[in-house]
Amino acid sequence: MIKYLGSKKRLLPVLGEIFSRTGARTALDLFTGTTRVAQEFKRRGGFVTAVDLSRYSKIFADCWITTDSSKVNLKELNDALLHLSSIPEEPGYFTETFCIKSRFFQPKNGAKVDAIREVIESQYKNSSLFPILLTSLILAADRVDSTTGLQMAYVKSWSQRSFNNLELRIPELLLGGGEGIQGDALSLAGKLGEFDLAYLDPPYNQHRYFANYHIWETLVAWDKPDHYGIACKRIDTRDESTKSRFNEKANMANSLKKVIDEVKASTMIISYNDESWVTSTELLEMCSRFEDARLLSFDSKRYVGAQIGIFNPSGKKVGAVSHLRNQEWVLVAGDRKVVSEITKAEFPASLAR
Ligand SMILES: C[S@@+](CC[C@H](N)C(=O)[O-])C[C@H]1O[C@@H](n2cnc3c(N)ncnc32)[C@H](O)[C@@H]1O
Repeated sequence: MIKYLGSKKRLLPVLGEIFSRTGARTALDLFTGTTRVAQEFKRRGGFVTAVDLSRYSKIFADCWITTDSSKVNLKELNDALLHLSSIPEEPGYFTETFCIKSRFFQPKNGAKVDAIREVIESQYKNSSLFPILLTSLILAADRVDSTTGLQMAYVKSWSQRSFNNLELRIPELLLGGGEGIQGDALSLAGKLGEFDLAYLDPPYNQHRYFANYHIWETLVAWDKPDHYGIACKRIDTRDESTKSRFNEKANMANSLKKVIDEVKASTMIISYNDESWVTSTELLEMCSRFEDARLLSFDSKRYVGAQIGIFNPSGKKVGAVSHLRNQEWVLVAGDRKVVSEITKAEFPASLAR
């Protein structure tokens, strides 16, 4: 899985347990990101619909959620990955943009990405292996990047992992089916059908995923766009069409309320935390249409950026860390019996690192 801001890796056991306790068979993961929560629901037998605004999430969903591992020809997949791994390095747009004009990857790995991505496009575009191969490439690139996990900046000196060679591996596929959709939660919420359980994990602040993961957007789109700034962000990062209402303080609460009102699900699970724009009281009020709603709170270590301080583009420390821990919230709303069944579980008070 890629490094991802707001990823629910540490909450996964809690969310999985909640899913199982509701007895849900169908689930919606409306802000799916890495798809790791959708994957957990699928692993527990759910038919999951995974939605996100980003292109890379749609590729991840096509790989892990839509693809049924029992229908994949493993020999064909293995051969394709061996073939791609054997392609000689060939520097192109990716190397020029992300290894020379900026320093997100070492040029040897950039040239490998360029060569492999071209062949995925020319030889596998219409193959059912396409999302699996592209996911494998993104994961491989993520393992050798030179960032702290965000693509707004690269670290000043090459990261240790960036010296490793890019290596394609088979993503761990899951049994069963599902659905992946790229689109805006605001316009899709009411149109996706009915679900036993819906999980909402919207952005918590102004930090846009499109800008923070612009390299994965470009690697998927493979449209070699014009770019700007030190981080060589896609030119369309400036376009209205790539912005999300959930990153706007003035619109976040109303947008979330609209989505909660419109999604058709018997049980609603919402992730949020205690340092963002919507208070716990507001969140609970937004769920007043349900028979019961309760907030579970977990003590948690803040994300890596908060651990290391705030730096300017030339690497100088310009800000101090205010605090290192916060509360991660999981709001559960639904029928009284179901909510009570969920809250009976013995969850840990704090999240493992
Ligand atoms: C907190 S992250 C979700 C992380 C995810 N649960 C995981 O564990 O990987 C929020 C996600 O919302 C997506 N997003 C932002 N605005 C959106 C919108 N308007 N509609 C759908 N997805 C949106 C972002 O692309 C990002 O992947």
